[in-house]
Amino acid sequence: MEDNLLNNLPGTRDLLPDEISRWQLVEDSTRRIFAQYGFQEIRTPIFEATELFARGIGGDTDIVGKEMYTFEDQSGKSITLRPEATASVVRAYAQHTMYRGAGLTKLYYIGPMFRHEKKQKGRWRQFYQIGAEALGSDNPAIESEAIEMILQLLASMKVTTRLLINSVGDPNCRPRYVELLRQELRQHLPHLCEDCRRRSETNPLRILDCKVESCQPYIQRLPKITDHLCEECARHFRAFRDHLEEAGIGYEIVPRLVRGLDYYVRTAFEIVSGGLGAQNALVGGGRYDGLSEVLGGPHVQGFGFAMGLDRLVMILPEELCSGIAWRPEVFVAFLGDAAFRLALSIARALRGHGRSCYVEFSGGSLKSQLRLANKLRAQHVLIIGEDELAREKYQIRRMVDSTQWEITLPELIRYLQLRQP
Ligand code: HAM
Repeated sequence: MEDNLLNNLPGTRDLLPDEISRWQLVEDSTRRIFAQYGFQEIRTPIFEATELFARGIGGDTDIVGKEMYTFEDQSGKSITLRPEATASVVRAYAQHTMYRGAGLTKLYYIGPMFRHEKKQKGRWRQFYQIGAEALGSDNPAIESEAIEMILQLLASMKVTTRLLINSVGDPNCRPRYVELLRQELRQHLPHLCEDCRRRSETNPLRILDCKVESCQPYIQRLPKITDHLCEECARHFRAFRDHLEEAGIGYEIVPRLVRGLDYYVRTAFEIVSGGLGAQNALVGGGRYDGLSEVLGGPHVQGFGFAMGLDRLVMILPEELCSGIAWRPEVFVAFLGDAAFRLALSIARALRGHGRSCYVEFSGGSLKSQLRLANKLRAQHVLIIGEDELAREKYQIRRMVDSTQWEITLPELIRYLQLRQP
């Protein structure tokens, strides 16, 4: 069947003007709060070489295995729409030798990501992330600081959350734990789901994250990774928790938290929110010290996170969103052709003074223009009729209390300036 060209594709959506102010509220607060913590914006391409993600994220992950939007370009090169941005940021950091001279490089991004996921509430195929990456330090203090920063943003958005943390070990201790898992899993294999059975060979750690009900009793009995960390990893995890505690940040240790991307070492975390339902993860992140080397770059220590912007916007409390939508300060209503020209020039003059103005080009009756002004929630309506035209004095109506009085243009400019907070 042919697609209806007037419908967008499943898993994508148009963000219409009515909704966009919520997005801008979050984005503006992000820029303000992240700057306070010394993070600077980076914008990387929306598409990259497929291999960057395949290697960076890991071949046995759902993302690389089933969810990437991959195509060949005209030159036959395999290209992928980015499913996440950490691999891209690490690539950019290495490519532009940003490690030279800088101790710690703190970067953030806001933008769309693409994953061909099953449709579900809170899951889109084009979704937006706000992410931050701190590169060049293995200090657990940066982990706690970055988490503090995102919690600060979420608190300013009046969203209640829980912080879940874990350590997934490192190449020193994880292989031993994975082997232990494999052995334990062998006896339960017949009872596990197909994905788990496959993963028991390819990537046993991911079994811990299985959501299939019938697997749960067996997964509960598996050894905990936090009981099998090497001394270095255990020390790191302890120091990370100390920093969280000193910052007054509450957390829960969840030894089954392993994340869906393969690049993590040591600290892994998620921030969840009750309002989200099944897809309750709002933020996910962790440490990825080996990622740059996997991509052929130098050894780079890194820690970061990404937040689902779509998900946050879904649960923004109404009280925060009232009064943030765009509204004109002055709606200029006019009657007749001559008044139309004057309306345009008055709007131009007001905009020159930094005010926002709206003129409805099709004109119409005063009643219909006032109706539109109401719909746009204009703060004032300036009425220019035949009489007013000759006298260079107009009627101004303050919409909040419907008071109306006569005003000249210089008086209006002054009045609007005085209203400024
Ligand atoms: P992730 O856990 O795959 O991590 O994604 C982070 C967040 O993006 C999720 O917690 C969720 O809120 C949102 N998200 C993911 N997929 C979707 C979807 N299909 N629809 C809506 N929202 C979604 C990463 O992407 C890592 N790059 C995070 C990171 C940065 N780790 C270190 N630095």
